[in-house]
Amino acid sequence: MLPTSRPSIGEEELKEIKKVFDTGWLGLGTTVYEFESKIKEYLNAEHVIAVNTGTSALHLALDAIGITEKDEVIVPSLTFCASIQVITALKADPVFCEIDINTLNIDIEDVKQRITSKTKAIMPVHYCGNACDMDALLDIGRKRKIFIIEDAAHAFGSSYKDKKIGSFGDITCFSFDPIKNITCGEGGAVVLSDPDIAEKIRKKRILGIDKDTWHRYKEQRSWFYDVVTQGYRYHMSNFNAAIGLAQLAKLDSFIERKRNIVNRYNDLLSGLEGIELLKWDLDRVAPFSYIVRILHNKRDGAISFLKEKGVGSGVHYKANHIQPYFQKYNKPLPVTEKVWNEILTLPLYYDMSDADIDLVIKSMTEFSKR
Ligand SMILES: Cc1ncc(COP(=O)(O)O)c(C=O)c1O
Repeated sequence: MLPTSRPSIGEEELKEIKKVFDTGWLGLGTTVYEFESKIKEYLNAEHVIAVNTGTSALHLALDAIGITEKDEVIVPSLTFCASIQVITALKADPVFCEIDINTLNIDIEDVKQRITSKTKAIMPVHYCGNACDMDALLDIGRKRKIFIIEDAAHAFGSSYKDKKIGSFGDITCFSFDPIKNITCGEGGAVVLSDPDIAEKIRKKRILGIDKDTWHRYKEQRSWFYDVVTQGYRYHMSNFNAAIGLAQLAKLDSFIERKRNIVNRYNDLLSGLEGIELLKWDLDRVAPFSYIVRILHNKRDGAISFLKEKGVGSGVHYKANHIQPYFQKYNKPLPVTEKVWNEILTLPLYYDMSDADIDLVIKSMTEFSKR
């Protein structure tokens, strides 16, 4: 069965991991700093703080800008539940908003309707890697004094206009979990330009401790440290950073191959009866996943049909406003409710062979003719 996604990992990652083993320092240390500095260079960003998951990156970003139980955060309902859990973890209220049916990205006009005096942040999600309308969002943010916290879990390597995502917004959060554009095994990063917020996040990622472990222990093995703020044990380890370093070196080839696959899917699936494609910004996107919409209430049938053909598929994601735990925040969202019953994720990963791609296209074509 073809999976929907799979990391491309091998000897290069093992070589980097071995280097860390040889130093005997597995936790936060020089490999993490090297990974951060390589990302900084790649994105042309000011501050990069590597953490243990994309979820921690989002949590730290919201915590560092001072989100509390008095605040509201506008977020699309169609996203991974991590985007919402980090808001409720801080006791703030998620305000679910609509998406654009063509891109699954945040609907700017709908966002505007949901802003109140309690809105402290908006969290756009760059779906499948395609960038949201960042000019419009940053403009709203500047005018209304609202932070734009980008959930860029899908978009490491993507650009908006001629700038890399992460190089120009307020705060951008990436995920390096096993299936993301690059993986660290598990990992994430917060990227931003504000030095004060960056300093807060650096402390918060390691239990609010003022100096990081490397400096504490390496220099003079001092036992002294100050805890200066609420913090979490969210730092990245050298071990995970080692995997990330090997992956970063492969990112350009990952992007090129996955763009080619998306291009091929777009060419050969377009016009099939009952199947709608998303709008892709192919020159700028680092494609994370390939999602189509299956019309006429046939999505679940498509999943079973594809399975019989040996093609795995999935649904990313169930809308959050209908999740049991988030019922308190449930408001009708007609576009999202329609779309989440139609979306189908098809296989997309670097190591797919041409025969794998053909099997997906052939199976989808047969399904559309049934
Ligand atoms: C949109 C979105 N946000 C946040 C996350 C959380 O990232 P992580 O799995 O690294 O915690 C994910 C991961 O799937 C995601 O897809």
